[in-house]
Amino acid sequence: MTTHSQAAQAGGSPPPEGPREDPHRSLHSQAGPRPGEHPGRSGNPLVKVAGLAWLEFEKPDLDRAGRFGADFGFTVADRTPDTLLLRAREAAAACLVIRRGQQPRFAGAAFAAAARDDLDRLARHTGETVTAHRGGHAVLLRDPSGFPVRVVHGVPELPALPGRAPLPLNFGPGPARVNAAQRPARRAAQIQRLGHVVLGTTRFGAALDWYLDTLGLIVSDFLYLDGQRDRGPAMAFIRCDLGSVPADHHTLAMLLQPRTEYVHSAYQLTDLDEVAASGEYLREHGYRHAWGLGRHIQGSQIFDYWRDPDRAMFEHYTDGDVFDSSAEPGWAPLSRSGLAQWGPKATAEFTGTNDARVVVAAIKALRDKGNEIDMAALRGLIKAMSS
Ligand SMILES: [Fe+2]
Repeated sequence: MTTHSQAAQAGGSPPPEGPREDPHRSLHSQAGPRPGEHPGRSGNPLVKVAGLAWLEFEKPDLDRAGRFGADFGFTVADRTPDTLLLRAREAAAACLVIRRGQQPRFAGAAFAAAARDDLDRLARHTGETVTAHRGGHAVLLRDPSGFPVRVVHGVPELPALPGRAPLPLNFGPGPARVNAAQRPARRAAQIQRLGHVVLGTTRFGAALDWYLDTLGLIVSDFLYLDGQRDRGPAMAFIRCDLGSVPADHHTLAMLLQPRTEYVHSAYQLTDLDEVAASGEYLREHGYRHAWGLGRHIQGSQIFDYWRDPDRAMFEHYTDGDVFDSSAEPGWAPLSRSGLAQWGPKATAEFTGTNDARVVVAAIKALRDKGNEIDMAALRGLIKAMSS
């Protein structure tokens, strides 16, 4: 196995002239695991899923959800009185399934099985059944946090939609653009694809092991509570194991927190100009900005975060890392300043620390048995969000 920094040095173009510095020095450098720490992958997973297929939500107002969807960059794939299907540009099944519901609610994620037999294997081991679903088949599971997890196979893909190519940039030797001006349109994004979902949970360790053992996901980066590394990770960025085929740095990220909840989901755009210009478009249309622009550390994405009218958070991103199965997990302390390499300081709107309900949730989580929230964890999380 190689560490991230070894992988970065091994691939790509030759290094530029002059002294070469570790790009992560002073940016919470990604050291590997210590002996005996969580290996970040299962020795014998039930299956290895191939990707994140779609996310499901319930919303009271599908018209309003559709307007946000169009402004954020989705295309309507189907609409009935009780369901709205939103899609991205790439050939795939619609990546957002929004059903009419009393309260706005995250209703689970669907992962794509690599083979039809994998559904039977999952069903056999969990006591669930394989059912017909959206033109293919699915088995519906529940993770230890309580989130519904569908594993699907054979759901028909929608054909790709046209989109613009990345802008030619005059970087490096030799201009790519001559006698032509750069004029990216300030309009709604045209989302390329669903990238990842982030979930908060009071049962982080159990949920982490479940995803590794059941779906064969592998960890790209662990974050631990500063000064409490011995208690294991408190956040994990988790990718699909596609062997030698590179996979997104994270398809799922999970973190220990006092409330079990959807945190955000992220959608890939063509380039930086599309992230910035479509953000201007969202701002002009009165949507609530959460955090950005910036570049993350774990995953390296250039990001911009927004809230939909129900306050659910959605991320536009571009230029994320991809790893094959050889990269082993990095380890770094969790901190607010460590969420980005550059960009504005992470806002309270993003971290959720401006939400008074978090205090009530913390008290409740401390009282409830069977979760991983204790006083030390709370102290560590508070310290992380203020450092
Ligand atoms: Fe994200």
